[in-house]
Amino acid sequence: MASLKGRDFLKLLDFTDDDVKHLIDLAQRFKALKHEGVAHRFCEGKNIVLLFEKTSTRTRCSFEVAGHDLGMGVTFLDPASSQVSKKESIADSARVLSRFYDGIEYRGFGQSIVEELAEYADCPVWNGLTDEWHPTQMIADMLTMRENFGDDLVGRTLVFMGDARNNVANSLMVVCAKLGINFVACGPAENQPEAWLVETCERIARENGSTVLVTDDVERGCAGADVIYTDVWVSMGEPDEVWDERIRALSPYQVNERVMSLTAPDSIFLHCLPAYHDTGTAVGEKIAEKFGITEMEVTDAVFESEKSRVFDEAENRMHAIKAIMYATLSDEEF
Ligand code: CP
Ligand code: NVA
Repeated sequence: MASLKGRDFLKLLDFTDDDVKHLIDLAQRFKALKHEGVAHRFCEGKNIVLLFEKTSTRTRCSFEVAGHDLGMGVTFLDPASSQVSKKESIADSARVLSRFYDGIEYRGFGQSIVEELAEYADCPVWNGLTDEWHPTQMIADMLTMRENFGDDLVGRTLVFMGDARNNVANSLMVVCAKLGINFVACGPAENQPEAWLVETCERIARENGSTVLVTDDVERGCAGADVIYTDVWVSMGEPDEVWDERIRALSPYQVNERVMSLTAPDSIFLHCLPAYHDTGTAVGEKIAEKFGITEMEVTDAVFESEKSRVFDEAENRMHAIKAIMYATLSDEEF
């Protein structure tokens, strides 16, 4: 396999199927090192910068802890504390930051922003989530699937329920196609993925012996599934006004015990998090007051059930991000 040293990590469509499998292998190895307490300061002396234009817990902490574990210096910049975008263009910021840093992470709005950053930066740029894609999440999710179903995921079925055209759903369709996992986008017509992406993924899936199904039928979509996956109904950057229509459109696609009863006996539940499974958040409380619902994309019963692997999945973000940074910053094997 060709080295990934010097590559940007912007979306999974830029990588071969083997590249993606290699990153999952690497994440698995880094997880073992971490759990065994073996130091792995393989990037000692390097420095990275994290640009966040949207909020984050998992992604930010993953980049910070992974960076420290690899022996790197880490700088965090949010919009309030830097000139990026407001007083300095993306192109200028990229050229400045490349003089200081060995790698740049960006979380924000349009994919075109992270693409521009990568065009002008001299070092690897990593996409920590855009409106269109969430590629680091995918390496963690596939690691979590391997931990439950073994390393060969070919022929397994993952169903995304709800807003099946958001950044996470788009990315899952790509990674599933690349790994030969059957992918189901299950949601109403207005929340289904774009045709060009479905066609692209169908072609990749066919080469790997799997399928892509887009459906609004919950029974059909979830029958015998190995993984039920969902995400928030309104993503970061979308206006509050869309809650009303989203709740109406997506409530039939809530992941609840009835949905889980349609799946395979050893099925699991995944969610990239954060999740609205109760009223224990400011948004959850506001929605409960306004719309009279206390659970949204997933019920508390499923979230807390034995099938739920969401906290393993969250931990795996860190191992995955470490693998992505290491692979793009170094060509050494360990
Ligand atoms: N899943 C995920 O990206 O979480 P954060 O928004 O907390 O980074
Ligand atoms: N679709 C969600 C994912 C959060 C990790 C969002 O963009 O807000």
